[in-house]
Amino acid sequence: MGRKKISLVGGGQIGGVLSQLIAQKQLGDVVLFDIVEGLPQGKTLDIVEASRVDGFDVNMKGTNDYKDLEGSDIVIITAGLPRKPGMSRDDLLTVNANIMKTVAENVKQYAPNSIVIVISNPLDAMVTLCQKITGFPHNRVIGQAGVLDSSRFATFIAWELGVSVKDVNAMVLGGHGDTMVPIVRYANVNGIPAMELLERKYNNAEKAKEVMAALVNRTKMAGGEVVNLLKTGSAFYSPASSAIAMAKSILYDEKRVLPACAYLNGEFNVNGYYVGVPVVLGSNGAEKIIEFKLDNEEQIAFNNSVNAVKNLIADMERLGF
Ligand code: LMR
Repeated sequence: MGRKKISLVGGGQIGGVLSQLIAQKQLGDVVLFDIVEGLPQGKTLDIVEASRVDGFDVNMKGTNDYKDLEGSDIVIITAGLPRKPGMSRDDLLTVNANIMKTVAENVKQYAPNSIVIVISNPLDAMVTLCQKITGFPHNRVIGQAGVLDSSRFATFIAWELGVSVKDVNAMVLGGHGDTMVPIVRYANVNGIPAMELLERKYNNAEKAKEVMAALVNRTKMAGGEVVNLLKTGSAFYSPASSAIAMAKSILYDEKRVLPACAYLNGEFNVNGYYVGVPVVLGSNGAEKIIEFKLDNEEQIAFNNSVNAVKNLIADMERLGF
């Protein structure tokens, strides 16, 4: 049986880190595509020249030719511009929809059997457009955001409580924008509710609520926090790692339950939109949406986030996509 083939469309910062992670973890052979001549070739050459040192052995190819996507099992799309300080992800809609259109047409032509993971922003709209243009079944087109947002939430909780992040479970649902919904009620440290630990730390329920609200807010704004620090470009290490977790679950049929941008067909009372929800990821892509009851407050926040996604899609449609 041959090795799996993972193609990465977009040779920028995330594409580079993705290539290196795939190689180091030996998840499969890598094709890194970009329209800029020399960029994907240079990055893959650089990475593969570390193979002796790191002890990995996969084929890597940098290319400017979409034809090299042929036979891909997984395609990860990062193509598009990152936002600048002061911009929202949604401000990238027009420019990145144009890029996504070309990318998706080529994925459809050259990798018709692939499972596609989209990372480009504004995420929920780009996943929607990618599925629309490829015409792939919804289970084969998903978006990366929830894994990243949840990891950020878990990191902030761990710092606040002074515990290992390895023991923190936290989940963020909804669209990948400022309205995303960190689910406080289920955030826990090895099963112990994070809120209870905060209440014990501060010996004051109100103060605990305030602190959690700040962690929630930081999570919602975390992408922008990195953008403001970097000044040029947006986060790339953590988005790449998050997409790798999704790709690995698909490649190894792990059936992990990961928050991802998936198409809802009535689940969570949403019909016909891509939104971040817990999904079982296996060899068939998004195999199952895991539903659970939201309380009143969560439901309001989730509805608000879904409405933001709906508005974004309406804007995209008005632009003719
Ligand atoms: C992120 O969350 O880091 C990405 O969506 C990039 C961005 O612009 O925030």
